Amino acid sequence: MKNETLKILKLIFMVMILLGALSGCKIKDPDVKIIGISAPSNDIQRWAVETIQMKNRLEEKGYEVIIQYASSDVSMQISQIENLIGKDADVLIVIPVEAASLGEAMDMAIEHKIPIISYDMLITNTDAVSYYTTFDNYKVGTIQGQYVRDKLDLDHADRTYNIEFTAGDPGDNNAGFFYKGAVDVLKPYLDSGVLKIISGQDSFGKCATPSWNTEKAQQRAENILASYYNNQDVDIWLASNDTTALGVSSALATSYKGNYPIITGQDCTLINVRNILNGKQAMSVFKDPAMLIDATVNMIDEIILNKPVSVNDTSTYFNGIKTVPSYLCEPTYVDKDNCFEVLTSSGFYTPEQLK
Ligand code: BGC
Repeated sequence: MKNETLKILKLIFMVMILLGALSGCKIKDPDVKIIGISAPSNDIQRWAVETIQMKNRLEEKGYEVIIQYASSDVSMQISQIENLIGKDADVLIVIPVEAASLGEAMDMAIEHKIPIISYDMLITNTDAVSYYTTFDNYKVGTIQGQYVRDKLDLDHADRTYNIEFTAGDPGDNNAGFFYKGAVDVLKPYLDSGVLKIISGQDSFGKCATPSWNTEKAQQRAENILASYYNNQDVDIWLASNDTTALGVSSALATSYKGNYPIITGQDCTLINVRNILNGKQAMSVFKDPAMLIDATVNMIDEIILNKPVSVNDTSTYFNGIKTVPSYLCEPTYVDKDNCFEVLTSSGFYTPEQLK
């Protein structure tokens, strides 16, 4: 009888393992911590590169890492996060497709007590976010504004300059910080009349670019050029990032005959850096991913080891429900003069990539 019971138990166990293997589940080894990474898409250079670098760093430290890319689709991201929770992830790193739309998945993370680190883009309208790692987003904007101010020596200007703005996605919490940082630096010159926005499009709402989409930025720039810049120059185009800067430079290439403006950007995306080298974009803000990845990996170690978590900002990032403790990294800029040195010495690009 005893033997028979043992046999039955053994059989049941084997069936369970077989079923588990067939369904792709495996029994979790309690000594291995699982880190889930949920990213919007791997079509965007930043997310493709940074998620893989993060995975490599975490695996070197003995973590198991599962990355899921959501094809820029909110409902796909929600089910992928739910899936990562189902796989018993110990910590989740989430870059939201849409900051305010992850509600259900966030509720599930709270239920399962899984800490969430919002990576670079803040998840809003939920208290599920434990920490936020990003760059100083306001400073990104001030760097762009200061670049323009210094290049044109606006403090000693003996003429006026025409400026247009292209801001980011209204659904991305960072976009308002970038815009405000740039406008705060340039406001004295807008107020004094040294800078003029000929289109009159002078608010974040009027300058925003849904989804940071290059074609939408291009269309808006083409409309502005066609309506206001047939007989005068646009001297500065303050674009918040590289995808929108690309839209602006394409619009200029198709429908502008005047002097080429200073165009700003952010991210040092390869195509934009090539544009910097060939004079089609003036600068880009460099946010060295190594810094952000270090800060995030460090945070994960601290969470897993139950240590106090390193943050350097506890007041800026209110997500609609809570002020999320954040670690902000320092952005810098690159232009034609320093981009080769800065981007190759940091290992961001190889010299061959920039030739
Ligand atoms: C990021 C930028 C990026 C933009 C579009 C922002 O949240 O901080 O680096 O250019 O999203 O992807």
